[in-house]
Amino acid sequence: MPDVTQPARRTILTLGATGAFGGALVLAGCAPSSPTSSPSSSPSPESSAPEVTNEAPAETTGPDQPATGADVAALADVPVGGSVDATIDGEPALVAQPTAGKVVAFSAICTHQGCVVAAAGAEFRCPCHGSQFDAATGEVLNGPAIDPLSPIEVAVSGDRIVAAS
Ligand code: FES
Repeated sequence: MPDVTQPARRTILTLGATGAFGGALVLAGCAPSSPTSSPSSSPSPESSAPEVTNEAPAETTGPDQPATGADVAALADVPVGGSVDATIDGEPALVAQPTAGKVVAFSAICTHQGCVVAAAGAEFRCPCHGSQFDAATGEVLNGPAIDPLSPIEVAVSGDRIVAAS
């Protein structure tokens, strides 16, 4: 018997190359199953109804489905090729859009000594000792930091960026 006491966890597509395909899959799922069939040929109005099951929802969300993660920012507020300062789950974070539709996020806590790193276009810069990080990957470009910034999983929901966990 399916466990109906636990809401199924909805997984949001992470951003990047899958974003466009995810949208296409959602749209394909909403398309009529037989667009050429005549309504008069259908003996029962329920014969073409979508199948309803107790299965977990598909691993996609569409524009008509609510986001499950905390709101982070408007997608339009993150410039393509640039980055912005943000807050995710109450912690300082950095959000970048290296290419159109590909959004990444990182903890803004510097891996050197814990200062808050700031967005600076295609880079992140730490004001304390000058470490620089690649905004697309979080990797160190210049020390003294050695380790990359910690990634944070985010997703796009409609025109918003949301935390994916
Ligand atoms: Fe960021 Fe030292 S704390 S470079």
